[in-house]
Amino acid sequence: METPGEKTPQWWQNGIIYQVYPRSFKDGNGDGIGDLNGITEKLDYFSETLGVTAIWLSPFYRSPMADFGYDVADYTDVDPMFGNLADFDRLVEETHKRGLKIIVDWVPNHTSNQHPWFLESKSSKDNPKRDWYVWKDPKPDGSPPNNWVSGFGGSAWEFDPATGQYYEHTFLKEQPDLNWRNPAVVEAMFGTVEFWLKRGVDGFRIDVAQSILKDAEFRDNPLRTDNAVAGHKPMGDYDTQVHLYDGPQEETHGIYRQLRQLIDRYSAEQPRMMVGEIHIFDVVKWAQFYGENLDELHMPFNFGLLKAKWEAQAIRETVDNLEENIPEGAWPNYVLGNHDEPRIASRIGPGMARLAMLLLLTLRGTPTMYYGDELGMQDVKIPADKVQDPWERLTPGMGLGRDPERTPMQWDASPNAGFTGPEVTPWLPVSDIYEQENVAAELAEPGSMLNFTRRLIELRQNSPALLSGSYRAVNGVPVGCFVFLRESSNERFLILLNFSDETATIQLPDLGEGLVVLSTEEEGLAEKVIALDEVRLGPAGGLLVKLAY
Ligand code: GLC
Ligand code: CA
Repeated sequence: METPGEKTPQWWQNGIIYQVYPRSFKDGNGDGIGDLNGITEKLDYFSETLGVTAIWLSPFYRSPMADFGYDVADYTDVDPMFGNLADFDRLVEETHKRGLKIIVDWVPNHTSNQHPWFLESKSSKDNPKRDWYVWKDPKPDGSPPNNWVSGFGGSAWEFDPATGQYYEHTFLKEQPDLNWRNPAVVEAMFGTVEFWLKRGVDGFRIDVAQSILKDAEFRDNPLRTDNAVAGHKPMGDYDTQVHLYDGPQEETHGIYRQLRQLIDRYSAEQPRMMVGEIHIFDVVKWAQFYGENLDELHMPFNFGLLKAKWEAQAIRETVDNLEENIPEGAWPNYVLGNHDEPRIASRIGPGMARLAMLLLLTLRGTPTMYYGDELGMQDVKIPADKVQDPWERLTPGMGLGRDPERTPMQWDASPNAGFTGPEVTPWLPVSDIYEQENVAAELAEPGSMLNFTRRLIELRQNSPALLSGSYRAVNGVPVGCFVFLRESSNERFLILLNFSDETATIQLPDLGEGLVVLSTEEEGLAEKVIALDEVRLGPAGGLLVKLAY
């Protein structure tokens, strides 16, 4: 029931987002690479099998694939590898038929060096598009204009001998940065957003959203004096600097305010949203991307759980910190995996995977799931001669490569896990445990991770308390445990999580008894009433308990 003054939650607040990495989800035409028709073929998996709300697709645009589609050569076309615009239209139509939403990736920070805009820009110093990218003269000694480093290693500047200037690239030299200080760039890029809005998409995931604008004076970044790694996994060279001048700039917020107005103009009949990739550790600074008047991004992705140590205290602090600092009216969200991070089941160990899923799907805020995590999929070790990710190639052996978490989805026990034809070589190797760990096998086994996740999704999607109820951590529990309440006006859930590898006893006599609706432990799907004055939780054990009201 809606209470006066309370807004009806939007789909992106009241729903679960599921990330699809198109190359790896399902190959529809037998060339070893996933594609749009493959995704369309599997739509019932999202709506029927899982029951999620929205799918987010990583880029499928025309691209030379230097960074597997995050180097876009045409923002308004589908790469032939993934299909064509008609395939996309059909995907949108079939997605909507099933009541699902579709979010596409938008990559505003940089284009491919093969984008016609860049080819023009590069052609001469007085080309009208010269200023669409970030060009600077060398220092008098010929060296790069400043000390900025690329996220993938080395200088962020690449010299162009033909015109005698450097261009800036936050990532690969094949990914030149757009100049968002140029109004023509803003207009052209907003045009690409409108293109997809008109094709019916429900939302955008904005790549590298925090740093599309750089310092107007191109000042050197200060060097770090501490050893702390702020806001992301250890990244070598990149971590030697404080990203004051190539990181978030005040003027970026103006761009997002403008973009929000554009999105809102298209939202009357079909509510649309944008979620941005924001790697900022400080919750207050992170939250600025909601906008001072909640007039920028609908949500900045919250990567707090990815960065926190996998310990009850650290996880609780991460959640409490968000709850305390998120601006009034802003909607939280949580992420436990994506195409840039080691798989959660590998990071914390497969034995903890259910606990992690229980946490993600019971917190207050929109969960984003990464494909395959519902099966307990693990990182796949990639032999040196099979490496694809440019980051691994540029920084071999540093553990930065992202191929391990991008391997083919495991559909069944047939050769290649049903991802592609049996005779085909998939673009990345299939996990060697796919015969046990796949959708078909797990559907058939009542106690599987997949069935656990399905039940959890069903519980969340039908519970006012879990969807939009309040959050409150419970004190007085053993150090290895994190226990919290989710409460709405007519429902109460208690979530008990044991992050330690020892059995824990939790005593909450004031809470009386409750109905266990889901457990990570044996016979997890069976319901039973328990007394809360003494609850024993095995190592990595977790319970979802419905309390009397
Ligand atoms: C984002 C993407 C990542 C990509 C990078 C450069 O961080 O998530 O996959 O490599 O941007 O586009
Ligand atoms: Ca294909």
